[in-house]
Amino acid sequence: MTARTYLAIESSCDETAAAIVRGREVLAEAVATQAELHERFGGVVPEIASRRHLELVDIVVRDVLECSGLERVENVDAVAVTRGPGLVGALLVGIAAAKARAWAAGVPLVPVDHLLGHVASALLDPDANLEPPFLCVLVSGGHTLLLDVDVDMTLTLLGSTRDDAAGEAFDKGARLLGLDMPGGPALSALAATADRRDAVEFTPAMLHHDTLDTSFSGIKTALSIALRERAAIRANEPTDAQLAAGFEDAIVSTIVGSVKKLLRQRGPTSGHASARDRMAVVGGVAANATLRTRMAGICREFGVQTVHAPLRWCGDNAAMIGVAAQFCPEHAGPDAWQLDAYATTPLFRQGKLVPN
Ligand code: KG4
Ligand code: ZN
Repeated sequence: MTARTYLAIESSCDETAAAIVRGREVLAEAVATQAELHERFGGVVPEIASRRHLELVDIVVRDVLECSGLERVENVDAVAVTRGPGLVGALLVGIAAAKARAWAAGVPLVPVDHLLGHVASALLDPDANLEPPFLCVLVSGGHTLLLDVDVDMTLTLLGSTRDDAAGEAFDKGARLLGLDMPGGPALSALAATADRRDAVEFTPAMLHHDTLDTSFSGIKTALSIALRERAAIRANEPTDAQLAAGFEDAIVSTIVGSVKKLLRQRGPTSGHASARDRMAVVGGVAANATLRTRMAGICREFGVQTVHAPLRWCGDNAAMIGVAAQFCPEHAGPDAWQLDAYATTPLFRQGKLVPN
């Protein structure tokens, strides 16, 4: 059976993205980032983001239809779109654009959860040939989740952050250090200039608690205190790079610490019905080189294969929405036109997310 072909649209935050996806193949994609537009405000301004999505959504959709050679929406099987979680105004722009195109072309609409999209990005690794079930660490600007991914891509929440998300912590740490947005890559680049042996030691959180949850706000406070103390005594040390290296290490150790607890709980992988022997690492922060190395190391220790989302699909994009759509039901008629956005994911209310 040939895989279905989707036009996918993503507009949950500050990236306006479209893609044409068939099976695991991305035929065309376009991502228009608004990062520069929001930079001077120090964070994404929801209303500005919505207005910009409105200006860009037609352009990215036209671009992928042309680049894929499909030209017209009538030539795809369905239109997939991010339904939430995210900024509601921003989501609504993508949803309205998707509904209009699906209706005009007479094809079904497939609403996709943004988090399911991130999880599905691991299926795009051409070497891993990953298929569910597996375990997953989702680390982004809005979420830090430890998930069990079932054979039908149903997500079960195993652990979450109790305060900031990992990416949010990177962004706040970067702001304290006076770095540009998005803070994660900038802080990581600064950390890479330090000799790791001189990194300032910040204590990773939750390591000794009996939970798979994580916490990052304490690490951020520790960085701000260290900066204040350095200023108070007018010292040059520790340097910004040494602080950044310690900050990055503490965030990564917190994530890896909760993965280690999970793998320990699960015991040996073979012969255990609920055991999963693959661990996907997805989301914007999955682009972090230190995290990738440490995750591979800890998984190897437990005989678990690590599958990292390809770098180009770690951040928000529409290709992952097109891949996830293959696990979601299609809607047609009034059922489709009444679909609405949601700001928070059902994963938190129900502990589970069934693709829908
Ligand atoms: O997945 P994503 O694009 O958007 C959300 O759904 O939130 O993630 C964006 C987050 C930002 O906080 C950004 O600073 C972080 O991912 N990020 C990184 C790196 N690249 C992006 N954090 C650490 N190291 C990186 N290399
Ligand atoms: Zn995202």
